[in-house]
Amino acid sequence: MRLQDKVILITGAAGAIGSNAARQFVAEGAQVMLADLDADALAQLAAELPADRVGTVTVDVTDAASNEAMVQACVDRFGALHGFVANAGTEGRVSPIEELDIDAFDRVMAINVRGPVLGIKYAVPAMKAAGGGSIVITSSGAGVKGAAQMTPYNTSKHAVIGTMRCLALELGAAGIRVNTVNPGPIKSRMMSSISEDFGPEVSANFEAAVTAATPVGRFGGPEEVGPLMTFLLSDEASYCTGGVYMVDGGNSAG
Ligand SMILES: NC(=O)c1ccc[n+]([C@@H]2O[C@H](COP(=O)([O-])OP(=O)(O)OC[C@H]3O[C@@H](n4cnc5c(N)ncnc54)[C@H](O)[C@@H]3O)[C@@H](O)[C@H]2O)c1
Repeated sequence: MRLQDKVILITGAAGAIGSNAARQFVAEGAQVMLADLDADALAQLAAELPADRVGTVTVDVTDAASNEAMVQACVDRFGALHGFVANAGTEGRVSPIEELDIDAFDRVMAINVRGPVLGIKYAVPAMKAAGGGSIVITSSGAGVKGAAQMTPYNTSKHAVIGTMRCLALELGAAGIRVNTVNPGPIKSRMMSSISEDFGPEVSANFEAAVTAATPVGRFGGPEEVGPLMTFLLSDEASYCTGGVYMVDGGNSAG
């Protein structure tokens, strides 16, 4: 029960990584506020979890007022906030730079960068009121590596590492730790979408190419990311802040 007596708020809770992580947080004793844009998927997830341990709030992470209301809903429901996981994200579109859809680029940056920054802006006062806490931003292997035709996504996932480093420096004295979790290739809707977007030729060899480039020789499962988040949210990670934590089967090692 590594998260006993902790209140955790997670965005993107209805997605592959978020829903698995949320289930694990509950299993580790936390009270969990599930936040996502997709109200139906949120309700479905909440229905399978103990009602006294979870709450739901619909949020658009790109919107300031929506983030503020999300944090307030968490504090109203559970009386505090100890852990915030800024996990909502989008893959955007694959394209050569000359064909970049600028609106789509702005959308990726709004969800993947503006989202975590706004969420943290409103989470921090609640964490300070609780005497400290832990913030985890879901970055990516794409946050430490380049990938041709993936400029929007990789730019956004690099950017939040900068966010994390600034805030680790800024919030350490307040007892708030800030880290990124960087999943590598995870078997999921998002990874299939990226593969298909590269077109049939790349897509046909995508799985083999990714597997070959990953030392453990396989994709990760969406349930393999939550345990690292759980550790960083827990008191076991009391000396861990300002870190980039890979969960990628070694994909970024080479
Ligand atoms: N799947 C992977 O292989 C992989 C690898 C590395 C990093 N990541 C990152 O992990 C995180 C979760 O990814 P996932 O695979 O679970 O993706 P997913 O698409 O299954 O889940 C993302 C969730 O974010 C929500 N969301 C999107 N826009 C939102 C908005 N404006 N406001 C609130 N919620 C919004 C979606 O509704 C969805 O439930 C993302 O940040 C992603 O970039 C995923």
